[in-house]
Amino acid sequence: MKLTDEQMMIQSMVREFSRKVILPTASERDQTKEFPYANLKKMGELGLMGMMVPREYGGEGADTISYVLALSEIAYSCAATAVVMSVHNSIVCESIFKFGTEEQKKKYLPKLTSAEIIGAFALTEPQAGSDPLSQTTSAIRKGNQYIINGTKRFITTGKNSGIVIVTAKTNESIGHKGISAFIVKRENPGMIVGNVENKMGLCASDTTDLIFENCSVPIEDRLGKEGEGFKLAMTALDSGRIGISAQSVGVAQAALDSAIKYSKEREQFGQKISKFQGLRWIVADMATEIEAGRQLMLSAASMKDRGEKFTVQASMAKLFASEMVNRIVAKALQIHGGYGFIKDYPVERFYRDARVFTIYEGTSEIQRVVISNNLFKDKRG
Ligand code: CAA
Repeated sequence: MKLTDEQMMIQSMVREFSRKVILPTASERDQTKEFPYANLKKMGELGLMGMMVPREYGGEGADTISYVLALSEIAYSCAATAVVMSVHNSIVCESIFKFGTEEQKKKYLPKLTSAEIIGAFALTEPQAGSDPLSQTTSAIRKGNQYIINGTKRFITTGKNSGIVIVTAKTNESIGHKGISAFIVKRENPGMIVGNVENKMGLCASDTTDLIFENCSVPIEDRLGKEGEGFKLAMTALDSGRIGISAQSVGVAQAALDSAIKYSKEREQFGQKISKFQGLRWIVADMATEIEAGRQLMLSAASMKDRGEKFTVQASMAKLFASEMVNRIVAKALQIHGGYGFIKDYPVERFYRDARVFTIYEGTSEIQRVVISNNLFKDKRG
């Protein structure tokens, strides 16, 4: 795919920023688990926190291709920062732009695009992961308010977000048409941050429970129509899944570059290990797989930019790229030998960070459900 001059300019600008500003502290952040708020603010100033939001709401009005190129560059340096950027842009900003009222867009988008506040998305529950229809969080209408009760789980930026898009059942008896979405502000006393997960990777991005205890949300903060929450979540996840493919491509490229660098430095049996054909062929396969993932990512992004339905391509890009990066980081670690297993080399962090990519925003198995349902045009085949 040929990139435009503008897309290439955005890519090189973000690459330079990411390597200069994000990369130097990524390893430290992984250890301290400090939320990268200062860097996210800088990303907001650069236009990276509302890339696809039109300029009238404070965004950049960029296309999805530019966005995934930028996201890959951030993921190259720090996957934890990239997941916050991904959820914020692809899920939160986009949902408000697509489903919000004019008032909501004016009220929330400028704060999000400047990174004054970071957004989170709460769909998953302790007993409702792959099957979000079985969620039990309820939102009962009382006058001009909805009263939300329930628990959400594994919420990216659950603790550090300024607003959370929350789905809840407004009607128990009508399946997905009984689910609605709400914008809940951090200061709302009914939304409580519960357990903060102790994760194997993406350590600087917080993942938490959010507990809703009689959380009162004004009717004007319902996002979309009543009953539109499931559709909103599925639409958001289509975009989010392209974002995860971009994260995967970024981390895979970082792992490949690390492996090449290491193999050119390391000597065994009297020569650099990069001279061994066994290693060179592994590296050739790695580069080929990354390119395949990149092209799937760009293809899904370009379909979205053309206004075509891209659900299947987003799932294919997410499925392939997230599985691919896990193969790549394992090979890159193997090339590093014993040094790959210690924290002095970044490949150890890449290996841990990539593991969740086949799980969040829909497991690989769910992507196969989406793809095969479309092929058979029938859920049961
Ligand atoms: N876009 C728009 N609407 C869609 C849609 C899409 N991609 N997919 C489904 N819908 C609509 C359907 O049209 C249907 O509406 P109608 O009846 O009006 O036609 C409705 O949604 C129900 O569709 P299905 O019957 O196909 O839904 P389902 O219950 O069989 O579920 C599923 C389909 C694909 C399995 C879905 O449940 C799914 O994607 N599950 C995975 C959930 C997931 O990815 N969770 C990750 C959590 S988010 C996360 O990880 C966030 C983070 O912080 C990083």
